Amino acid sequence: MHESIAPPAATAPLLEVTRLTRVFSSRASLLGRPRTLTAVSEVDLTLHRGEVTGVVGESGCGKSTLARLVLRLLEATSGQVRFDGTDLATVPPAALRTLRRRMQMVFQDPYSSIDPRYSVRDALQEPLRVQGLAGAGADARDRVEALMAMVGLNPALVDSFPHQLSGGQKQRVGIARALALQPDFLVLDEPTASLDVSIQAQIIALLEQLQRELGLTYLFISHDLGLVRYFCRRIVVMYLGRVVEILPQPQAAPRHPYTRALMDSTFEPDPRARRTVRLLQGEIPDAFHLPPGCAYAARCPQASERCRSERPALTADGTHWLACHHPLN
Ligand SMILES: Nc1ncnc2c1ncn2[C@@H]1O[C@H](COP(=O)(O)OP(=O)(O)OP(=O)(O)O)[C@@H](O)[C@H]1O
Ligand code: SF4
Ligand SMILES: [Mg+2]
Repeated sequence: MHESIAPPAATAPLLEVTRLTRVFSSRASLLGRPRTLTAVSEVDLTLHRGEVTGVVGESGCGKSTLARLVLRLLEATSGQVRFDGTDLATVPPAALRTLRRRMQMVFQDPYSSIDPRYSVRDALQEPLRVQGLAGAGADARDRVEALMAMVGLNPALVDSFPHQLSGGQKQRVGIARALALQPDFLVLDEPTASLDVSIQAQIIALLEQLQRELGLTYLFISHDLGLVRYFCRRIVVMYLGRVVEILPQPQAAPRHPYTRALMDSTFEPDPRARRTVRLLQGEIPDAFHLPPGCAYAARCPQASERCRSERPALTADGTHWLACHHPLN
């Protein structure tokens, strides 16, 4: 019977995140009670192989915390991350180390986490050394050369140090480092945010090419909705730790008032297509004192009494997910 046949492994999700939550505590004052902030709150997310998914939202909404939780660089307070069917929280350390080769991160400032005394060669060999995979002599040289070619770095730069490289070259090294262990999943946390616009376009083109050629799965994090709409096939919108909308295609019309406001405030470079830029209004509530209802209510033109008292749940309308009591049409 067809119904009893399990789906082929190739269609199983690569990453499944379930009700993922991370709470941070801080002490308000010497005598005060500890205050807690839920940086990521009950996030559900499924990524399929070869997909490029974007996560977008304003500063402090929990994007980087989500990235670190997904790679288990940070422990979750509750919830689950399954990578290729394995629960990352319960996998034994040796197996986690092996899985880690397959999931890598590209940071906004790739060299901030690297010793400034490392040359490009050292930086590219380090991931292999850490995993006990560093070859010697010609083999190691070949691997470094191949990685540099893959990201379009001039081989003459192999003995250069970070301070001798441009921003774009440094990010190419960061991407090559992430690729050193031949991963299938990359989390890209604002990889172009510190670069000039023209260099940003080159890095995005490189990431597109690598994704296509290597069949990579990306979780691409950015505060720039315009960039995410260009680069990603599915867009997850976060507001104060929660997913408020998932657009199934980049051009899908936003139905959450926050996504609409983000879109309206996105700068449109083509003057013929430029609309009046309506910047987001109102204060973001203090993440330590979130209101009981919808966290966006204080800024939302549609907010009702219900919005202020009852938190909207994330529900699906087909493949479009939304957490709002009064969605836009
Ligand atoms: N280690 C930590 N301890 C306490 N609070 C933290 C910690 N890391 C993050 N936070 C808080 O969690 C919230 C989410 O932070 P996060 O860095 O994930 O946001 P973000 O969306 O990546 O922001 P940005 O766009 O500025 O990078 C913020 O309020 C931040 O202050
Ligand atoms: S739930 Fe209410 S306050 Fe929140 S976004 Fe929707 S309409 Fe606005
Ligand atoms: Mg961040």
